[in-house]
Amino acid sequence: MRETINRRIVLASRPVGAPVASDFRMDTEPLRSPDEGQMLLRTVYLSLDPYMRGRMSDAPSYAPPVGIGDLMVGSTVSRVEISNVPAFTVGDWVLSQNGWQEFSVSDGRGALNLGAHPAKPSYALGVLGTPGFTAYMGLLDIGQPKPGETVVVAAATGAVGSVVGQIAKLKDCRVVGIAGGTEKCRYAVEELGLDACLDHRSPKLNEELAAACPKGIDVYFENVGGLVFDAVLPLLNARARIPLCGLIATYNGDPAAESRCRTSELMATLLKRRIRVQGFIIFEDYGSHFGEFRKQMTEWFGAGKIKYREDIVSGLENAPEAFMGLLQGKNFGKLVVQVSAEAGT
Ligand SMILES: NC(=O)c1ccc[n+]([C@@H]2O[C@H](COP(=O)([O-])OP(=O)(O)OC[C@H]3O[C@@H](n4cnc5c(N)ncnc54)[C@H](OP(=O)(O)O)[C@@H]3O)[C@@H](O)[C@H]2O)c1
Repeated sequence: MRETINRRIVLASRPVGAPVASDFRMDTEPLRSPDEGQMLLRTVYLSLDPYMRGRMSDAPSYAPPVGIGDLMVGSTVSRVEISNVPAFTVGDWVLSQNGWQEFSVSDGRGALNLGAHPAKPSYALGVLGTPGFTAYMGLLDIGQPKPGETVVVAAATGAVGSVVGQIAKLKDCRVVGIAGGTEKCRYAVEELGLDACLDHRSPKLNEELAAACPKGIDVYFENVGGLVFDAVLPLLNARARIPLCGLIATYNGDPAAESRCRTSELMATLLKRRIRVQGFIIFEDYGSHFGEFRKQMTEWFGAGKIKYREDIVSGLENAPEAFMGLLQGKNFGKLVVQVSAEAGT
């Protein structure tokens, strides 16, 4: 290995509204050798996820914020370059939390060894990792879809939403996706097999959703909030279930996404229709189920029952722009940054 420098992206300032390029800064530091009991990991793939917007803010949350000047957090798939940890061998693939940087030194705690030859290493960040797990537990444990019911999923072509829609189809539901734009909606129907998909930017979303859900909505998998939820709320059936997974439309504090004060209407609807809403944080609530999920998803995926799409951006320096795009729907599939070549440097 020739490198002597580690490039890393740190938080330069806390965003006000949507993040901008100057909220991030590329830093360098000398690459340090691992001590006894440590290994050097080279980041190959970095996952970019909506929760990172929350970490850039110091508002109270379920996880601490990234400090100003600190490394941006993130899940990574890496390769072992040097190992002084018995359970890891040079060349092994590792799922861990390196953050937005080219190298990291790890003692192996919290690192999952994916072995020397995983079929698709980056899939551990998506369909076989946190997003897939989130879709699986949220839909099946909280949503509890029954055959013939209508399931609506927002951000339907994204990392979580695409898996939700396909599992709901496997459970024989009518599935309606909501996504941004014609091309994503076409993909949701023709490739993922959803029954219908609607563009959330359509001025007639409310009417179009009502027409696509003639029997109302039994399960709404919430990834977005804001105006999409406005369209869903009147259509919820008695005893509907809402896995409250994410509210990406509100993460930048966009006032347009919160244009209506809905608290009274919301509470009255929940009461009158006996609707169950449950928020969840995937590993905190369901961490012990990860093995069960991996087994089932590997089986479904291997049998061609679940399709998966990645949006791979090349180069660590392009991570900030890609992340800003994620919050505007510019990604098409699971957003991953390829930080270095799979085969090594
Ligand atoms: N609770 C948990 O433990 C947990 C775990 C993982 C993820 N999540 C949540 O799950 C949701 C989806 O995450 P993901 O990783 O699968 O991301 P993703 O869907 O792959 O990417 C985000 C997508 O959100 C949509 N979006 C962005 N801004 C929007 C807006 N203003 N209105 C409507 N849609 C908007 C865009 O899709 P369109 O172009 O289709 O609009 C964008 O592509 C997020 O809310 C995330 O926070 C929660």
